[in-house]
Amino acid sequence: MAVAVREHWSSRSGFVLAAIGSAVGLGNMWRFSYLTAEHGGAAFVVLYLAITALVGLPVMLAELVVGRGSQKSPIQALQHFGGPAWKSLGFVFVAAGFLILAYYGVISGWTLRYAATALFTGFGTDVADEFMDIAQGRDAFALHVVFMIATIAVVAGGVKRGIERTAMILMPVLFLLVCGLALYATTLDGGAPGYRYYLQTDFREILSSDVLTQAAGQAFFSLSLGMGAMLTFGSYLGRDNNLPDESLIIAGADVGIAFIAGLVVFPLIFALGLSERVEESTVGALFITLPQAFAGMGAVGRLVGTLFFASLVVGALTSAISLLEVVVSSAIDGLGWQRRRAAWVMGGLITVLGAPAAWNIDFLGVMDQVANNLFLLGGGLALSLFVGWAMKDPIAEVSVGAEGTRWFFLWRTLLRFVVPSILLVVLYDAVPKTFTSVANLFR
Ligand code: PHE
Repeated sequence: MAVAVREHWSSRSGFVLAAIGSAVGLGNMWRFSYLTAEHGGAAFVVLYLAITALVGLPVMLAELVVGRGSQKSPIQALQHFGGPAWKSLGFVFVAAGFLILAYYGVISGWTLRYAATALFTGFGTDVADEFMDIAQGRDAFALHVVFMIATIAVVAGGVKRGIERTAMILMPVLFLLVCGLALYATTLDGGAPGYRYYLQTDFREILSSDVLTQAAGQAFFSLSLGMGAMLTFGSYLGRDNNLPDESLIIAGADVGIAFIAGLVVFPLIFALGLSERVEESTVGALFITLPQAFAGMGAVGRLVGTLFFASLVVGALTSAISLLEVVVSSAIDGLGWQRRRAAWVMGGLITVLGAPAAWNIDFLGVMDQVANNLFLLGGGLALSLFVGWAMKDPIAEVSVGAEGTRWFFLWRTLLRFVVPSILLVVLYDAVPKTFTSVANLFR
């Protein structure tokens, strides 16, 4: 069999934008600001930044190193550096891709629907009832299918012509949209208490173990870590990239856009007098409270609502692409499939797997919890142990393209001791809770 030459990104900015596209998505566009408001405002931001720096960044660099060094998708990459025993971790990563994309596609379908509603009819005041109707059932599934077809089409197009090109076009658009909306929000009368609510500082709030779990789970989800997405994107890199620099840029953009999204959401909600509805639930706040705000703003609300949900669709699409790519690249490398076939077959399977989430919102919630708490955090722990302890010379690998950097010893120390300790504490809290949620679902 002729071995196909591995496709590579055509430019550094192409890779960086695709990776930022993976990171910036539904997770941080909304969930970050919501968690921040719930858990002590600026104090939570500080905790989140600390976790991102101490845990997120080292793990991201570890993923990129394993990907670039092996030039392979997760299963074979882990085998390449760790032997057959570590191969199973690669299978866990692929399974996580299936699981996350299955429900991520459903939520993305809702955002598609909302973007269209804002554009064509505007929101009514009874969005709350409407949401429950559209969020579950045939319509939800149909929109999930539409969204998945778009995702599959991009991935089938290949690394350069599909993934990279899409990110090069869409990421600047997303950035402009979010910044434009944040600027618009500053002009709203009555927005000030929204900023206060978002950023009020209460350090007592961050002292519970639950907050640490939330912050860590959010960091992993938002940075696309713990399931091989960054690893896979790293496997299309040449040896001249400075991986520590790339990690910093990707994480910085992710946190930055998340923060700016909060500057859009809270002034809007408060200016429209809907502040008491913020605390309902993450989903409720995004899909019920905000549309109510748009409904109260007349024609302007239609425009702003359309732009807001369009930016969510864009963020969701570029993230979904990276989730599917983990599965597709594994099928290409492991089963010898053609990319097109891998994309449509695997994407089709994932679409079907989304059906339970599309019909039952509680099921969707539990899938999200399992994905975050078990797969991503557990995957991150395993990966830090792998690169920290099992891999032979990660420092030699990370140094390529980054000569002169002096932080590698610190990086490895973080991976060996700090990351596993923090993740163990978090998992100790998160795992039992997750099992309880799963058990409750089937009761
Ligand atoms: N980071 C994406 C988001 O915030 C989700 C994601 C998780 C993508 C894991 C890839 C891998 O929406």
